[in-house]
Amino acid sequence: MFVDELSTPCLLVEQSRLERNLTCMQKVADANGVALRPHAKTHKSIAIARRQREHGARGLTVAKVGEAEVFVGARFDDVRLAYPVVGQDKHERLLRLMDRARVSFCVDTVDGARAASSFYAAHDMTVDVLLEVDTGHGRCGVGWNGGRSVRTAQQIAALPGLRLVGILTHAGHAYHGPQKDETPEAALARVAAEERDRMLAFAVRLHEAGLADPETFEISIGSTPTMAAFENAERGGFRITEIRPGNYVYYDAMQVSLGAATLDDCALTVEATVVSQHRDRSGQDRLYLDAGKKVLTADTGALTEGYGIILYNPADMVPHPHARLTGLSEEHGWVTVPGGATFGVGDRVRIVPNHACVTVHTQDRFYLVDDGEVMDEHPVDARGRSV
Ligand SMILES: Cc1ncc(COP(=O)(O)O)c(C=O)c1O
Repeated sequence: MFVDELSTPCLLVEQSRLERNLTCMQKVADANGVALRPHAKTHKSIAIARRQREHGARGLTVAKVGEAEVFVGARFDDVRLAYPVVGQDKHERLLRLMDRARVSFCVDTVDGARAASSFYAAHDMTVDVLLEVDTGHGRCGVGWNGGRSVRTAQQIAALPGLRLVGILTHAGHAYHGPQKDETPEAALARVAAEERDRMLAFAVRLHEAGLADPETFEISIGSTPTMAAFENAERGGFRITEIRPGNYVYYDAMQVSLGAATLDDCALTVEATVVSQHRDRSGQDRLYLDAGKKVLTADTGALTEGYGIILYNPADMVPHPHARLTGLSEEHGWVTVPGGATFGVGDRVRIVPNHACVTVHTQDRFYLVDDGEVMDEHPVDARGRSV
């Protein structure tokens, strides 16, 4: 079967690019002496998680209990929720997975940790937790540089039912892009160094407080952009032990704009069909695609224009010189083509989405392709598992 026989809109994953991305990130992990525990929220696919394991990944990262259930159900026996798990219902579901897998999760507040502690202590269990640390993103996590954070760690470590095995961060501020007068490469290097150094500095402080042994303490970092500039380092006997990128399996237009990938690295594309064409008042061609917000999502990240990159030559990942995806409504992608369109109603268009992780979550399945040929079809197994 060939790609042009598939009903659109649909997700295509170019096999050779996927394999190259898996190989390259595993090399980053191996060269730095860390475990690669990929975040499965990007692909949500058992088949791809298996390929990551075959390449050398150790364990999986997920955000949601529902995702953990899918992957433990597929016999992944080491699953980490890089997310503060709160709520008795969630802990009950995790408990049910713990006879089949090592399940660990994040805590970042004393209240959340206390609730988890009473639950597991009441079940005569001691479970592994990691303290989430904010290294600059400003989302969850205790501050990396405050005495209050050490006291929080002390309180958590003293709770029954929990074993504080490490610290974990996600340098999401890498997605903010360069600061004034900074190149994209310098921005990635800056945030990667912050992510690493702030975690090592915090680990040393925990060691001084008697809470972390350099031999066993886990220090887990990871975002796809910071992995482009990651180099491990040693401080007070501590090193980074684990990386958790997710997006790298596919990359996307946001990663390209940050300088973390090239267009040729982007393994995920959306195949769409032109369903309508009109000329606007200024005489410009407007084409409408059958992929709108519900497929491509309205995510733009730090991108200043467009909802994805339209390819002129998908085989070589050459962007279209003029066609721009300038708008989205629920079911339509709005394309403008200054200078006139050379394609029209019924033609196919291939798009590199802005954000692969959320695009994948909109679809039930994806097609593994080799150039124009469809090699396989896979379900997005953990799609909709957001509880
Ligand atoms: C806690 C956590 N870890 C790891 C990742 C993976 O980062 P990326 O999507 O940049 O690969 C994310 C992404 O949102 C995350 O939130």
